[in-house]
Amino acid sequence: MAFITENCTFFELTDDMLAACQPFTCGNDDLDDFFANDATRYAHFLMGKTYCFRLNSDPTKIVCALTLSNDSIRIYDLPRSRRDYMKSLTHHEKPLRRYPGVLIGRLGVSSEFAGQGIGSEVLQFIKGWFFSSSNKTGCRFVIVDAVNDPEVIAFYEKNGFINLFSSEEQEFIYTGGKKSQPVELATRLMYYDLLEMRKKS
Ligand SMILES: CC(C)(COP(=O)(O)OP(=O)(O)OC[C@H]1O[C@@H](n2cnc3c(N)ncnc32)[C@H](O)[C@@H]1OP(=O)(O)O)[C@@H](O)C(=O)NCCC(=O)NCCS
Repeated sequence: MAFITENCTFFELTDDMLAACQPFTCGNDDLDDFFANDATRYAHFLMGKTYCFRLNSDPTKIVCALTLSNDSIRIYDLPRSRRDYMKSLTHHEKPLRRYPGVLIGRLGVSSEFAGQGIGSEVLQFIKGWFFSSSNKTGCRFVIVDAVNDPEVIAFYEKNGFINLFSSEEQEFIYTGGKKSQPVELATRLMYYDLLEMRKKS
């Protein structure tokens, strides 16, 4: 783990920066379009903040872009066994209906730099940032709606993320699908428990 630490600088993505940088392409057209055209509007309305790592040797190159916002995991309507498991993760003085977290709404690594460990390094950066004692709010989980593609799911699993639901059928119903409909999920809800960071430190 070192490429972005040694070769990049972290910035909030702005319109001026987008105008000064080469187009960012991560291989997913929807994500590329979001970063180019929607990200700064999300920031303006405080709906999501987009950050990027730019290459020090050529600051017109965005190596990675990510969008973060506050989120939570709904506990009260999870399937019973999963709900019991989630409840076992914390104290019980007053049952919480939702557990706080930060959502990685978007994440893309430039195709030029893909497959070199940068995505994993960025996930490690996000974990450290929100586990930090200087974080202003309670934040127990890093949450992601991961693109439902085996390679992307494997990428998050490799980085310690767990599916909230053990089956796609359960998740389909939780997200509003009807039992009579065919199960189709564009994304899978996954989380990383930031208390894992305490075990490592
Ligand atoms: C998914 C993504 C962020 C991973 O970043 P990365 O820097 O390539 O990730 P790493 O090098 O740390 O890990 C690579 C692993 O991710 C997986 N992967 C998923 N998509 C990949 C892609 N397009 N290119 C290369 N690896 C990819 C590989 O299986 C690889 O597994 P391995 O380590 O067993 O070889 C990046 O490939 C990307 O931006 N993809 C397009 C956008 C996307 O799907 N974003 C996820 C939205 S939830």
